[in-house]
Amino acid sequence: MLIKDTNKEFPKDFLWGSASAAYQVEGAWDEDGKGRSVWDEFVRIPGKTFKATTGDKAVDHYHRFEEDVALMKEMGLKTYRFSIAWTRIFPNGKGEVNEEGIAFYDRLINELINNDITPMITVFHWDLPQALQDEYNGWESRKIVDDFVNYASMLFSRFGDRVKHWIILNEQNVFTSHGWLMGMHPPGKVQDMKMFYQVNHHAFMAHAKSVLALKALWPDALVGSSFAFGPAYAKSEKPEDAMAKMDYDDLQSYYWMDVYAYGRYPRAALAQLKSMNVAPHFEAGDEEILKLAAQNIDFMGVNYYQTTVAEYNPVDGVGMSNKVNTTGKKGTSEVQGMPGLYKNPKNEFLKTTDWDWTIDPEGLRFACRDITSRYDLPIVISENGLGAFDHLENGKVHDPYRIEYLKAHLIELKKAIDEGCRVLAYCTWSFTDLLSWLNGYQKRYGFVFVDREEDEESGTLNRIPKDSFYWYQYTIKTNGAEL
Ligand code: BG6
Repeated sequence: MLIKDTNKEFPKDFLWGSASAAYQVEGAWDEDGKGRSVWDEFVRIPGKTFKATTGDKAVDHYHRFEEDVALMKEMGLKTYRFSIAWTRIFPNGKGEVNEEGIAFYDRLINELINNDITPMITVFHWDLPQALQDEYNGWESRKIVDDFVNYASMLFSRFGDRVKHWIILNEQNVFTSHGWLMGMHPPGKVQDMKMFYQVNHHAFMAHAKSVLALKALWPDALVGSSFAFGPAYAKSEKPEDAMAKMDYDDLQSYYWMDVYAYGRYPRAALAQLKSMNVAPHFEAGDEEILKLAAQNIDFMGVNYYQTTVAEYNPVDGVGMSNKVNTTGKKGTSEVQGMPGLYKNPKNEFLKTTDWDWTIDPEGLRFACRDITSRYDLPIVISENGLGAFDHLENGKVHDPYRIEYLKAHLIELKKAIDEGCRVLAYCTWSFTDLLSWLNGYQKRYGFVFVDREEDEESGTLNRIPKDSFYWYQYTIKTNGAEL
């Protein structure tokens, strides 16, 4: 579309935000009654993370959250999205609540509100209690649904008086594909397609029942889950590439978003899964619950980093690879695909980051437009950002590349808004530097540099605002009018 004469500013009340996740920032991994999560164990398996980095200390947000919130206030941030560590609330995943864990998040929430920052809570950002993994294999068992809803309901009842914005699951598509197909996240399974789809069904049920539990308690709350959306462009005008894109969309994107928004799986995807004998098992009543929850979500959460290309992939073509660039050495990722359907080659028209992620600001607009056309839901951009090598020089960090990246994405986001997309919030990833799960501390995303070594627990952990911090501060102050 070519919309003319628009207001330069973003909508009034637009939530300019930034995001993080508990395991990636908090540290204090065994303090104040916290139990162990699957990530606390997984990072200790040799070869799983870049230079064996862990979140034991992370960037010590647990002890420095007041300093971090003061910086958010200085920046003028309107919302801060963060996740709760399930094991701080229920060290064993269920049973007795750990009041010290509740108290930590009470302090954080109150500190944010006292500084005019809207808290946005992610209920689950991957750190499942190890106790539930040990007892019944975590997400693999249907038992997880009740334990999840019990945990989520505890958060709703203890924090819902002050927190209105809730994201139930972070990137269900990523933690399940990395956990059950690629072996790169806990529990480290490879190519277990049947379990992958069953685990996803359990996660959908946990999401759906949590949405309903929240609305029963706080009807005015705003809720959704965050999907890692990598929209696809067809490689060529060949009909087989158009079909490859459609297959990719149904199996890699709509498979999740349709369930959140419509409460049902895409028909073609289910037909494909049935023919492979990997379709999920439903219990009586599941369909109705998924549908009811879909009618109750308020937005589609979107974590947007990159687009992809869909090209027809012959039956003997490439499959899923776990050769992913976790070192920052360009060109070390391999093409992924599903034999007989699609593969995702490089986009020759786009530049990439040092970790081989395509840089595509227009893709963000494309993502918003696609969601708006298909679901007509408001959108929360819950993550978007650039992972890069940053350097501290004479007490300063100059990161013009990050400013350029974010600015370009915001310009496209504003076009999407002008074209009718209802975007409620934009959260960059991330506020401070933090642990990148598989890439250690050298892949930095923050507005605030944290002085810590990339692969060992040393450094002052001092906070140093980067140039991008001041750029975002000005962007917020001018409500995006001068991008
Ligand atoms: C998303 C996650 O996948 O992208 C974040 O929700 C993550 O937790 C972010 O850190 C960036 O990914 P990565 O692999 O570069 O850390």
